[in-house]
Amino acid sequence: MRSRQKRTRRSWKSNSTILQLCDRRSIVIHRSLACGKKDKTLALFSSKPKRSEESAVVPAHIGIIMDGNGRWAKKRGLPRQAGHVTGARVFRTIAKHCEKRGIKVATFYTFSTENWKRPQEEIDAIMNLLRDYLRESLADFKKENIRTRFIGDRSVLAPDIQQLMREAEEATADKTGMILNIAINYGGRAELATAMRHIAAKVQAGALAPAAIDEACIEQHLYTAGQPEVDLILRPSGEYRLSNFLIWQCAYAEYVFDEILWPEFTTKDLDKALAVYAGRHRRFGGV
Ligand code: FPP
Repeated sequence: MRSRQKRTRRSWKSNSTILQLCDRRSIVIHRSLACGKKDKTLALFSSKPKRSEESAVVPAHIGIIMDGNGRWAKKRGLPRQAGHVTGARVFRTIAKHCEKRGIKVATFYTFSTENWKRPQEEIDAIMNLLRDYLRESLADFKKENIRTRFIGDRSVLAPDIQQLMREAEEATADKTGMILNIAINYGGRAELATAMRHIAAKVQAGALAPAAIDEACIEQHLYTAGQPEVDLILRPSGEYRLSNFLIWQCAYAEYVFDEILWPEFTTKDLDKALAVYAGRHRRFGGV
């Protein structure tokens, strides 16, 4: 009972932040969630929705910024790496839950082009977690209908990690379910610069006319070429930034922020964020 009360208090604290960013309908949805009442929107998540419903209320592409690992560890007197270890476990659970909810593409921000500024010990710990995940998941990949992809410049990563990444992509290439993009050494600006270089090389070779460089052409040169643009960005830990994540793909994304730290993030928190998203009125520049 006590833990339920604690959970409700925490939910309400998270909600109050989200409330600032929601329209009136979302506020209603969120209040009823905080009180534990079932409403129509929540009911959509009580069982796997049909395809037609999914396209209306479930984001086709969700981007998740897994933030707060360091603070979670510090609060417990643990080294920052301990936060990443728990964060990696949460990543596995949430990735599978995204698939279960009918999301077509989920992109997780694992290591940015700016994260090289961190202490070497912490960088090594994150790379080791990635190594472990890739090794351990090879069996799991066979069971799941998830296609694993990596976005970012992998050329500077350790050769064995690059090899494991290739194996993971090959092992899941024929999967028909969700695409799981793991962003490693990824930066939105670097992605755009890479795309521009490829386009310029084609122009120089006479394979592309400058007049043919339009939005679709740029999209085709991104790591996420052919994938739906981002509908929802989710960032826990009380930070309200995009941090160079999917900057082109987020042109019309909705944002949901939460106070909870990533290592404490649960499938219920994801469902709450999806319910907030479902209540948003998206106009894409129209009325
Ligand atoms: C941001 O929190 C988190 C990161 C930069 C690393 C995220 C990495 C993981 C969750 C491990 C992923 C592993 C796999 C296998 C995909 P922070 O450290 O900046 O937290 P803080 O803001 O509280 O310091």
